Amino acid sequence: MQREIEQIVNEGNAAIGAATSTEALAQVDTELFGKRSALSAAHRSLGSLDPDARKEAGRLLHEARALLEGQLAARRVTLAQSERAALLVSDRLDLTEVIPAQMASPLSRGHLHLVSQARDELEDVFVGMGFEVAEGPEAESDWYNFEALNMPPAHPARGMYDTMYLDIGEPETVLLRTHTSPVQIHLMEDAARHGTLPIHAVMPGKCFRLDTPDARHLPVFNQIEGLVVDRGITFGDLAGTIQTFTTAYFGEGMQSRLRPAYFPFTEPSAEYEITCAICRGAGCRTCSNIGWVELGGCGMVDPAVFAAVGIDSDEWSGFAFGFGIDRLALMRHEIPDLRSFMENDIRFLSQF
Ligand code: DAH
Repeated sequence: MQREIEQIVNEGNAAIGAATSTEALAQVDTELFGKRSALSAAHRSLGSLDPDARKEAGRLLHEARALLEGQLAARRVTLAQSERAALLVSDRLDLTEVIPAQMASPLSRGHLHLVSQARDELEDVFVGMGFEVAEGPEAESDWYNFEALNMPPAHPARGMYDTMYLDIGEPETVLLRTHTSPVQIHLMEDAARHGTLPIHAVMPGKCFRLDTPDARHLPVFNQIEGLVVDRGITFGDLAGTIQTFTTAYFGEGMQSRLRPAYFPFTEPSAEYEITCAICRGAGCRTCSNIGWVELGGCGMVDPAVFAAVGIDSDEWSGFAFGFGIDRLALMRHEIPDLRSFMENDIRFLSQF
């Protein structure tokens, strides 16, 4: 028995020494102390010895176990330390290093965030199609964000927007805009007041919703709104504009579709979707296994909206759309998770 125990200890020590990672060591742990280990077998065989021999063998086994456990624990500390040191080196981000100006290469200079680049490119695409660029405020009144867009108080469609209200003025009257559609209202009111119709404009900007961040949602995100108000505008103009835009932004071969949908401010309305660029339509975590990713909504401006801003819908018609800039960038660059945009990891950001 004594020789057997010595052998267990020797082999155990060798195995502990040979493990080069904490993962491998965990395996050795099971092999040494698990139910099927030589140590457990020796324990089980104690019963067949006579009382004196059993006492002596029991003591030796106890010592052997304690010895091996000590070696294993010490080895675990050493391996964990070197693994952590290696991780620190590979993950090193030196924020204190100052590079003298004359040594800094053009590559070490900062640049615009991917989302800002996407916004600029989208503006360029639409300017190329004859649109102007406009902006509106991020804090809005209930009128601009909801009511003028054909969503009176208590309209069920307000439920689509988990709204963040600002604590100024009457309760629930000032809010962080939940979409860029209120900028349409500002443009149409101004044009009606000053007699400057038609309108061909895109309106990029930040939007806010009480959403839990996930692969496709952020509580602060960016949209680009589009609005055309002119004589004789049809759904064909809308579909053609979106098709031209898709090719200009994604290149040839990106599959897109318009799906019937409901928005209070357009009639008819549609959702704009493209084949998920991550899985090419097969289904993945980014598209929640649907194979398509919704990039925004669109439709023909509802006559009730024209009425709210004082535009005669017998003379004028129009289309509108609102696309998520972050999602457009996500799909174009095949990034699986929107949260990467917010993490400020220089290794991610410097790729674009
Ligand atoms: N504002 C909508 C949203 O964020 C998107 C949208 C739908 C904008 C239809 C439009 C439109 O201009 O016509 O959910």
